[in-house]
Amino acid sequence: MKNLKTVVLSNQEISPGYYRMRILAPDYTRLAKAGQFIMFRVQRSLLPLLRRPFGIFRTGFMPADCETMPPKEFIEIIYKVVGGGTEIMRELHHGDSVEILGPLGNGFEFGEPGEEKVLVGGGIGLVPLYMLAEKLVEESRVRLYMGGRTRDDIITVTEFERLGVRTHVSTEDGSVGDTGLVTVGLEKKLQEGGKMTVYACGPMPMIEAVEKICRRYGVPLQVSLEALMACGVGACLGCVVKGAGHSDSTPSYLCTCKVGPVFDAKKLDWGNSPEQSVGNCGGCQ
Ligand SMILES: Cc1cc2nc3c(=O)[nH]c(=O)nc-3n(C[C@H](O)[C@H](O)[C@H](O)COP(=O)(O)OP(=O)(O)OC[C@H]3O[C@@H](n4cnc5c(N)ncnc54)[C@H](O)[C@@H]3O)c2cc1C
Ligand code: FES
Repeated sequence: MKNLKTVVLSNQEISPGYYRMRILAPDYTRLAKAGQFIMFRVQRSLLPLLRRPFGIFRTGFMPADCETMPPKEFIEIIYKVVGGGTEIMRELHHGDSVEILGPLGNGFEFGEPGEEKVLVGGGIGLVPLYMLAEKLVEESRVRLYMGGRTRDDIITVTEFERLGVRTHVSTEDGSVGDTGLVTVGLEKKLQEGGKMTVYACGPMPMIEAVEKICRRYGVPLQVSLEALMACGVGACLGCVVKGAGHSDSTPSYLCTCKVGPVFDAKKLDWGNSPEQSVGNCGGCQ
């Protein structure tokens, strides 16, 4: 993990309200694991005071500007504009200074080679699944169930298809793919049986529904959680969730930024869905 003062290489809107930013990031192709994230700070602005967490969508190399220069190593993040921080980010251009701390968190486990891998992404939750898919297709058949409210939320699916991933899209308004929730397709898949592992990232209600389905069919599940984060390195306790077996007499709290953001679903407390418990003062920016 290191703090890197660097620059934006590109920043483009890829669907209404969704942006893809490429950032110069030496060493990240070697260091970053699927499921890890960065804490991002806009350098030219005092606000927002805190860094914002974003999953790493992918890493790569760009051709050098001239023959004597090495290729430029980059990461891409994809973000949805939801508030003050992402409003500032959407205004960034090629050459603007930014600061990233990372790669952070644990990343996904790849499961057993050969068994089928099933990815479930809800909206922007698709982001950490791309690097995972890149890795999994080397040894397994991989399927992606991608869901969103409308067609605007369905992003980068063709890039998964180019990797050889079989994709199933659903939207709540039926504007693209099947009409309904992403979990309908997932449940049909699990009903077929066979050895598989499920990986999910998306809004909490989706994650909870996926967990219930996987538990019913006895299928291993890894979830990537998006808790509110202030520091990203285990210092503020702003991102804790309840661990399996948590009770008032034997409390169990897990830091999403340090122990996660990826968890084996069995290690979390689903009795009361994993929720933030301490640390967020409400005034943090
Ligand atoms: C490990 C991790 C990876 C993430 N990866 C991505 C990603 O790849 N792309 C992306 O667009 N977003 C991602 N997020 C969420 C992203 O960090 C927030 O959307 C961002 O911090 C919002 O900043 P803001 O200043 O624009 O909004 P704020 O003004 O801070 O918040 C606007 C609204 O969004 C809500 N919000 C803020 N942060 C979160 C969060 N973490 N989870 C749920 N709701 C939140 C707030 O409660 C508020 O209602 C990730 C979060 C985590 C923890
Ligand atoms: S965000 Fe500070 S401890 Fe996790």
